[in-house]
Amino acid sequence: MINIAIDGPAGAGKSTISRRAAAALGYIYIDTGALYRTIGLVALRAKTELTDADAIAALLTDALTVELRFVGGEQHMFLNGEDVSDAIRTPEASLAASAVSAVPAVRAYLFDLQKKMAQENNCIMDGRDIGTVVLPDAQVKIFLTASPEARAKRRYDELCGKGMDVKYDGVLADMIQRDYNDSHRAIAPLKPAQDAVLLDTSDNTLEESVALVIETIKSHL
Ligand code: DC
Repeated sequence: MINIAIDGPAGAGKSTISRRAAAALGYIYIDTGALYRTIGLVALRAKTELTDADAIAALLTDALTVELRFVGGEQHMFLNGEDVSDAIRTPEASLAASAVSAVPAVRAYLFDLQKKMAQENNCIMDGRDIGTVVLPDAQVKIFLTASPEARAKRRYDELCGKGMDVKYDGVLADMIQRDYNDSHRAIAPLKPAQDAVLLDTSDNTLEESVALVIETIKSHL
């Protein structure tokens, strides 16, 4: 199977770019952040203290089912049979995802699911540790980044477009907080794989970034 790993910080455009590149190349697109967001939602709903790793780990019981299904070609997340694809996109779910993603038991819980998807499909998988931990043998690894301000502006526009009432300063502060959490955690911190191609999209339009990623993938296969 052809596996492409795309990692990078929040708001670098990973999901939109990966989705479009996968469509152009005929691969499926797997958004692993959605898996962490789903566990984040579990923690929010259970009113778990987000700094309590043991309490978060205790949420991962046999009674919990987290499924990734494709509905009309798009990835949807199901939590105990409920489609939570929209519920995992709130700012609260973002911060909860960041918190639960630092818990080793959560990463172990989601590892097999990610591995299996990659073994069974030609895919572009995006996340934070895909090139370093989940798919160290991926044929192509890309580390996609952009300045915090450029990323916050994109996320702000996206949330406003969805009718959410957010402030740019708040989005930027959340972004910086998540960057810090994601790159300073002890387990699977956000960092480029040694053999990753680094792409900075701060000054690129979306179309330019998509073209650059497709070109990079093609030239490395
Ligand atoms: O890409 P995203 O913003 O949807 O990711 C949500 C959170 O999950 C983010 O704070 C980092 C974490 N995450 C992770 O630790 N490992 C991944 N492979 C993907 C996401």
